[in-house]
Amino acid sequence: MNITVKLRRQTSRTSEPTYQTYQIEADRDRTTVLDALIKIQSEQDGSIGFRRNCRNAICGSCAMRINGRSGLACQKHISEVMRDRDTELVIEPMQNLPVIKDLIVDMTKFWDNLAKVDPYVSTASRQISNTEFLQTPAQRAKLQAAANCILCGSCYSECNSAAVSDRFVGPHALAKAYRVMADNRDDRADERIEKYNEAGFVWDCTRCYNCNEVCPVEVQPLDRISQIKQEILANHDLPESTAQRHRHAMVDLVKEDGWIDESKFGVRVVGDNFRDLKGLLSIFPLGIRMILHGKMPYPWQFQKSEGALEAKALIEAIANAKNQKIPADS
Ligand code: SF4
Ligand code: SF4
Ligand code: FES
Repeated sequence: MNITVKLRRQTSRTSEPTYQTYQIEADRDRTTVLDALIKIQSEQDGSIGFRRNCRNAICGSCAMRINGRSGLACQKHISEVMRDRDTELVIEPMQNLPVIKDLIVDMTKFWDNLAKVDPYVSTASRQISNTEFLQTPAQRAKLQAAANCILCGSCYSECNSAAVSDRFVGPHALAKAYRVMADNRDDRADERIEKYNEAGFVWDCTRCYNCNEVCPVEVQPLDRISQIKQEILANHDLPESTAQRHRHAMVDLVKEDGWIDESKFGVRVVGDNFRDLKGLLSIFPLGIRMILHGKMPYPWQFQKSEGALEAKALIEAIANAKNQKIPADS
């Protein structure tokens, strides 16, 4: 079949992008997006720039945006990325990283962010044994999904938090953080948990799910981020951060009233129940802006959610059943 390939072109970091179209013959089920690019480059236009190496979803170098979704060009067949109603195959560089040329992006920030999680099993652990430091299959299985990462950048390209925040390290870095944290040979778990609890790490994720959806090798970075959060929340030695208070306040409010009363939420989370006056004062400018724009709701405007009493009764019944050790199926 004949397909139209629309490529985003950019000759340098500072030039304006343009789109250029090419017509090629392709087999919907056998031709990959990378095959299409190589065909265009070798037969029609040798000036187009893109990265590739293994052609087998191993090296991670051919990640790009294909019809609006980041992924590996060598892994995606035309039939997979062009639905029947699509008339063209649109290929663009990854997002959230500056373009060097055409589909080639500068990945410096991606690598710098990875370095921030200290992605190595600690060297101190190597001194434990002079021979091999074996892992059991169960120990290895714990980190298998995260260890699959080929550092292609697809998740980072689709990450909503990375798009708006300079400090967020990104899903690839946090997947790697979990990989080393879950490794039984690493002996810096406490230090890592403390670090990943800081601003710019796990709590900056907006849980948009994009990273899980685009990852070509099932790392499921959001799931790895959730696992780190669970470790942090289970560690009672850490000073409670605003992000942790956010989770605890949500659970406590639902337990108390059966719904999340936002009139109490800010005071509990940012103000730590009036214990953190500095935190409370920090939201004053926002409050003033909301009043000036007529956006400040008054406490009586917050409506209890429908079914709040039932939710509260259900939580109490479960707590009572647990206290009395009533079997769940009774
Ligand atoms: S987590 Fe998946 S999408 Fe992200 S860099 Fe690793 S392999 Fe690529
Ligand atoms: S779920 Fe979190 S880490 Fe993943 S893409 Fe969304 S904001 Fe980024
Ligand atoms: S060329 Fe190596 S992953 Fe696509």
